[in-house]
Amino acid sequence: MTDKIRSAALRSVALAALAVAGNAVFAEGIEVTVVSGAVGNAVANFEALVAPWEEATGNTAVLVPMPASTTDQFGQYRLWLAAQNGDIDLYQTDVIWAPQLADHFVDLTAAAQEAGLIDANFPSIIESQTVDGRLVALPIFTDAPALYYRTDLLEKYDAEVPTTWDELTETAARIMDGERADGNADIWGFVFQGNAYEGLTCDALEWVKSWGGGQIVEADGTISINNPNAAAALEMAAGWVGTISPEGVLAYMEEESRGVWQTGNSVFMRNWPYAYLLGNGDDSAVKGLFDVAPLPAGPGPDGASAATLGGWNIAVSRYSPRQEAAISLAIYMGSAEAQKQRAINEGNLPTIQSLYEDADVLEANPYMARWQDVFLNAVPRPSAPVGADYNEVSTLFFTAVHSVISGSSDANTALAGLQDDLEDLLED
Ligand code: GLC
Repeated sequence: MTDKIRSAALRSVALAALAVAGNAVFAEGIEVTVVSGAVGNAVANFEALVAPWEEATGNTAVLVPMPASTTDQFGQYRLWLAAQNGDIDLYQTDVIWAPQLADHFVDLTAAAQEAGLIDANFPSIIESQTVDGRLVALPIFTDAPALYYRTDLLEKYDAEVPTTWDELTETAARIMDGERADGNADIWGFVFQGNAYEGLTCDALEWVKSWGGGQIVEADGTISINNPNAAAALEMAAGWVGTISPEGVLAYMEEESRGVWQTGNSVFMRNWPYAYLLGNGDDSAVKGLFDVAPLPAGPGPDGASAATLGGWNIAVSRYSPRQEAAISLAIYMGSAEAQKQRAINEGNLPTIQSLYEDADVLEANPYMARWQDVFLNAVPRPSAPVGADYNEVSTLFFTAVHSVISGSSDANTALAGLQDDLEDLLED
């Protein structure tokens, strides 16, 4: 090889190396897209949440906000996934969706194992996201509701924190009437999620279960909803609308309830933990004036407090052309570091066991130490027993419940019809 040829050859090797390096630099700057619902301050906090991952990898994460209603979000996800959309790399998924969407997501078992996240998480939560042995989504936070109550108003009226629904109904009415007589014209007794969507499935499952009326479809697949306790629970809730709760509650989701509560216009609220930090924010009229307790129990020997299990996870799309970067972001979002940040900035309950003893987490959310028990004993919606039919089961349920609380049907008629519809759907 002449010197000339040798130097030309060397130059081309060097150029090729540069090109590889150039590509590598380019490859490090991957942009991944995450879709997520827009409740609370999750969207506003996203940039800060992913900043450490962006810094460590040189990649960027872009958030595409979805509707606040988890029902609407599910519909959109299903369209994208059915079309094998390659633009979206990660999906933030509700705890109930794993069995229905499993086929579209990559198995995160190995990556989670390597990052120590299988052992760090509560086993029941990992199990809820495992379908046929595949971890289809990695938990990022869990959810179990609280009864929010106004400490100042309870004190003013010398009232106890209600432990049964009867006590709640009575206390809410008494304080509301007293406040109105005092000129506080906008005050209501109780706000919750009464719109016809997944949130109503959560609230109504709590009413039904707390009255000893079962969990719609039991773990063994038995359709149990048509029973007198369930009917009585729904009649109780129907009695609230227009008395201690505004008529408008029939259209409320989480954020509308929080709006009424946070402007100081309700004595009680049923909501998820995210409302705690926001309620103590500087722009909140109830800052420092409230606390949380477990939801009230139903009456009689079958009555007990019931909390519906919620929570969110992160899943990587099988159709993502950027899977390696997407998996790395999923692992980061499920990590103790990110979950701690979420707990402190967004008030979300961690799924990492050790964070329930973390001083910073507990300082920001003092009640969280107590809430570990609430979510570990929470009632799951029947997504495991009904599998791919869950969305339809839930839609039939919340539609029937809405017809009762809006007064267009009585509970016995609505539940008999629901039982028939569920049998047609599930027993074919
Ligand atoms: C919360 C829960 C979720 C539930 C939703 C209903 O986001 O975490 O599991 O489906 O509320 O609105």
